[in-house]
Amino acid sequence: MLSRRALFRLGGAALVLPAGLSACSGGDGGALIGAGGANSSEEGSGGALLTSEAPLPAPFTVALAVPPVLRPVRKDAGTDYYEITQKAAKVEILPGLRTEIWGYEGIFPGPTIVSRRGRRTVVTHRNELPVPVAVHLHGGRTAPEHDGYPTDVILPEDGGREYVYAMEQRAATLWYHDHRMDFTGPQVYRGLAGFHLIQDDAEEALGLPSGKRDIPLMILDRSFAADGSFRYPSVDPTLMKTPGVTGPYMSGVLGDCILVNGTPWPVLDVSTARYRFRLLNASNARRYRLRLDGGPGFIQIGSDHGLLPAPIKHETLDIAQAERFDVVVDFSGHRVGDEITLVNDHGSGGTAQVMRFRVTRQESDDSVVPDRLADVETLSDADVTVEREFTFARGGAHAHGMTLSTVNGKPFDPETIVARPELGATERWIIRSQNVEHPIHIHLAPFQVVGKDGNDDPGPFNHGWKDTVNLDSGGRAEILIRFDGYRGKYVFHCHNLEHEDMMMMANFEVV
Ligand code: C2O
Ligand code: CU
Ligand code: CU
Repeated sequence: MLSRRALFRLGGAALVLPAGLSACSGGDGGALIGAGGANSSEEGSGGALLTSEAPLPAPFTVALAVPPVLRPVRKDAGTDYYEITQKAAKVEILPGLRTEIWGYEGIFPGPTIVSRRGRRTVVTHRNELPVPVAVHLHGGRTAPEHDGYPTDVILPEDGGREYVYAMEQRAATLWYHDHRMDFTGPQVYRGLAGFHLIQDDAEEALGLPSGKRDIPLMILDRSFAADGSFRYPSVDPTLMKTPGVTGPYMSGVLGDCILVNGTPWPVLDVSTARYRFRLLNASNARRYRLRLDGGPGFIQIGSDHGLLPAPIKHETLDIAQAERFDVVVDFSGHRVGDEITLVNDHGSGGTAQVMRFRVTRQESDDSVVPDRLADVETLSDADVTVEREFTFARGGAHAHGMTLSTVNGKPFDPETIVARPELGATERWIIRSQNVEHPIHIHLAPFQVVGKDGNDDPGPFNHGWKDTVNLDSGGRAEILIRFDGYRGKYVFHCHNLEHEDMMMMANFEVV
């Protein structure tokens, strides 16, 4: 009999395609596309809506929760040490029902880690879940052996594993989440996601809203079964053998219940002051077009990798999976009693609403949003040494009777390197979507968007340093990217997690 350990390893490798699969990539691989709506889109997002069987609460009846900040277990001169146990827990998400989650420290979202720029952060993860896990710090400039490579998993019997983060990077809103090969979608869906913030002196000196008025908001969608458990259409609910989801959801799983920090359509009491909200779309497949109904608009101060040079006003914000928008919302023009609703103009019915702010008290406010926020280096065409093109498509290959997702016609193979940038080099990458919406994320190296959909500008939502860029079906982005930090093998992939699990991922190696 196979040992539990061997079964885990097998489970972790089931996605590695049998040799010979490549024979069916390309040409006839499209045969299955379309069967089961594999390229479907709903509500502005690649995917299909999965309806809850449990009754969902009336919106804006439950108070917003803010994930607790994790305390280091020890510190020394240059390093903060943390410990996290990944485990199952039953929590009340829908009033009166219990939902089993898989959580970092048994909570969803996981605890927030707050690092200081330049101080090393070491996080020891223990796995008490019945599946392999891999932890990725999204947005982290991390050495390859600590980046949570999809096959670099932690098993329960491994007794814990240290992830070391240098934190030699700007203040920014990062997040950590599961990255296990072939099963990232269901494992994140069950709750494996948390914030990891980096702070620095330069940002603190600005006088932006802080303390209780600096709030991370993790926005995501879920669907619930009648007993309160998460509904997710896994082919293999044990998550040990066959990856993937059933037919109509292969383009993405869209839930009908919007949660912010794990609470359905929450309400937050605010004062007549400025607030900083760190918006993260942690959904598997859903994109949002956010708007403050009855409110003052967003002042964007930061993007994926920290502060913009100057604030930008937006009436609406398009936020794709894994993107972060750091915004200030100024409630000072409001009166006690006013209600401002964060809505999703891509949604309909329940998914058109996200959360509500209720102005409940007057408060004086000495925070500011300076006209100049940061000196931000601009990458230049003149530095580009290599240009590469990558086309992302649903289809082009299949396995296990499922349509795969591909990068330049090939499904992910952990052993294949598609690009070998030199350490320190700046490259131009042209990234295209052949069909369906794809938010494309590149590990290690942040980038700047210089062209979008045929225009020579980044578009309204791609300012600053980014690590994820949103592509519409048929869309195109041109980015400048500098590969510094570490040599080694990293992935880039679609952050629609169902697409990622269907192998819309590739390796680059910094040499
Ligand atoms: Cu947020 Cu490779 O992931
Ligand atoms: Cu990442
Ligand atoms: Cu995709």
